Amino acid sequence: MKLQSSFFFVCCQPGAEALLKDELAREAPRLRFAFSRPGFVTFKDVDSRPFSPNYDVGSVFARSFGLSIGNCKSDDPVSEVVEHARALREAAGVSLRLHVWERPLHVPGEEPLGFERGRDSTRIEATLRAHEPSLFSDGVEARNDETVLDVIVMEPGAETSPLFVGFHRQSGRHHAFPGGEFPIEIPECMPSRAFIKMEQALRWGRLPLQQKDIAIELGSAPGGSSFALLLRGLEVWGIDPGAMDPVVWTDPRCDKRFHHVKKAFSDLKREDLPKAAQWLALDINGPVRISLPYIEQLVGWFQESLLGCVLTFKINDPKHARHVPEWLETLEELGLKRVKATQLPANKREICVVGLTGKGLLRVSGPKKSSV
Ligand SMILES: C[S@@+](CC[C@H](N)C(=O)[O-])C[C@H]1O[C@@H](n2cnc3c(N)ncnc32)[C@H](O)[C@@H]1O
Repeated sequence: MKLQSSFFFVCCQPGAEALLKDELAREAPRLRFAFSRPGFVTFKDVDSRPFSPNYDVGSVFARSFGLSIGNCKSDDPVSEVVEHARALREAAGVSLRLHVWERPLHVPGEEPLGFERGRDSTRIEATLRAHEPSLFSDGVEARNDETVLDVIVMEPGAETSPLFVGFHRQSGRHHAFPGGEFPIEIPECMPSRAFIKMEQALRWGRLPLQQKDIAIELGSAPGGSSFALLLRGLEVWGIDPGAMDPVVWTDPRCDKRFHHVKKAFSDLKREDLPKAAQWLALDINGPVRISLPYIEQLVGWFQESLLGCVLTFKINDPKHARHVPEWLETLEELGLKRVKATQLPANKREICVVGLTGKGLLRVSGPKKSSV
């Protein structure tokens, strides 16, 4: 088997397929749409040329992507996957990283009662590993340049689900865990699901946070993302007229490092906030045309000390997704670098955007201090 294919798969949030297709029609004209299920879309090359395993669609809405081998068609899909894995391993020359994952069926937070993600993929992964252990390296976290075998459970929960097989060469553009998920330990006292969103954003964005850094969060109530920052040892100033979950003050791990500025942005004054801050987080429920001027104001106030931003941009109207490149450009005009956007697994109708300032880049490249 050659490490190439003229078919390409992309996994996205269920419901985001049209946004993905629209984005790729603009950004990756080589791709012609082939097949779509909620959360999963395949493409072929417009001239049937093969894609290399390094091919990158540079997409905001792609959660994971790679080259297609295809659907398992026999009555024994596990043996069929093993056959593909053998051929791929021979072509790659080393053990494969095995990623078995389920086609995402639900927008986060909208799962039906009793829904349990990962049951089928865990079982199938164990069967594959037991079948021929030497084919696969131990563990699931992919490192750059590894060849990853993607096995996608297409109908999770069905008695026998079809399996789709693909592969990719791991790079900084791919998430390291199966299907673009992030293994996150969820604390019992999490004030809101925004905790998961912030944790995913920090891991995906690889932001060089350090203990005792100061973060400003606009739109902080009830406090999930502030809690994530507090648990990482930061001091957090949350701007929001809404009530915060008391856990941000009472949890001993937060150590009185949370300050609530109980105001709407329009009532905010410079003196309500600390003199310096390293990080800016924003998660308001308004459209991006409202958020951007707020970001501009805050970046201006903290330009001497700011290292970077982690922002949630709402896409309540799918038509707004076309403006993502303009939004990123506006952030670059404000002095942010390495600005990038993605739809994280925990994002609903929204995307996550991160960027670093020149000072932030220096912290990344400078003498190493342990990040949190
Ligand atoms: C999605 S919630 C934020 C969730 C929060 N980040 C968390 O971790 O739980 C959006 C918040 O934005 C706040 N908000 C919206 N517009 C705002 C404004 N102009 N100024 C301050 N807060 C605002 C709302 O009060 C609401 O609490």
